[in-house]
Amino acid sequence: MIAPLTPQNVMEYIKDFNALGNQALKNLIEEANMRDDVLPPVQLEVGTLLHLLVFLQQPQSVLELGTGIGISTIFMALGLPKKGRITTIEKEEKFATYAKKNFIRMEVSEKINLVVGDVEQIVPTMTDSFDFIFQDSGKQTYLPLLDKLVTLLKPGGVLVFDDTLFPTFDLPERNKRTQRAIHRFNLEVKSHPDLESFILPFAHGLTMAIKKD
Ligand SMILES: C[S@@+](CC[C@H](N)C(=O)[O-])C[C@H]1O[C@@H](n2cnc3c(N)ncnc32)[C@H](O)[C@@H]1O
Repeated sequence: MIAPLTPQNVMEYIKDFNALGNQALKNLIEEANMRDDVLPPVQLEVGTLLHLLVFLQQPQSVLELGTGIGISTIFMALGLPKKGRITTIEKEEKFATYAKKNFIRMEVSEKINLVVGDVEQIVPTMTDSFDFIFQDSGKQTYLPLLDKLVTLLKPGGVLVFDDTLFPTFDLPERNKRTQRAIHRFNLEVKSHPDLESFILPFAHGLTMAIKKD
């Protein structure tokens, strides 16, 4: 696993100050981190931040790209207003099956519509609009899907992208293509006429953007 940007002693210190003291969710993350057959979920702190952002914005409709086993989806679901719903897309059937079980375990299933498929095929066909979008799927999909995600987002809506400080990490040669792709993506976000954005230097880097009215 790639070490987060934040020093370990800071992570240790803040972990007891989390707004979401949900032990069942902490257990779920610990279980996921111990497995080697799933990609790592968001860290507790990133999940808590997503939860707070959703709780602040009170979106009726959330779109997530890259469900994994559903940890980030659950963090957001627990911050939704009563009628809020999440559509989340995952291409790996096996992960989607785990995610469904986790949604039942955390009692959030009725808030979540899980779509199994490739975001590069599904997102371009979507027509619904969303108040909040979280992109955490394949890093090579970030740039090609950027304009479509901005179109799907309502004015005033929030877009969050995970892992956007990948270009700053000292990674092996096999990751260079992904690092270049994320760097090109960061440049596009910065100059996008419809977005105001900021890269939060936390975890692996989180870009937060708002669609201008
Ligand atoms: C880092 S994991 C997501 C973790 C999850 N968001 C969480 O924090 O709990 C990335 C996920 O995106 C999925 N993924 C990657 N490329 C995808 C694509 N093109 N379409 C759909 N899902 C994709 C992977 O299978 C993986 O489960």
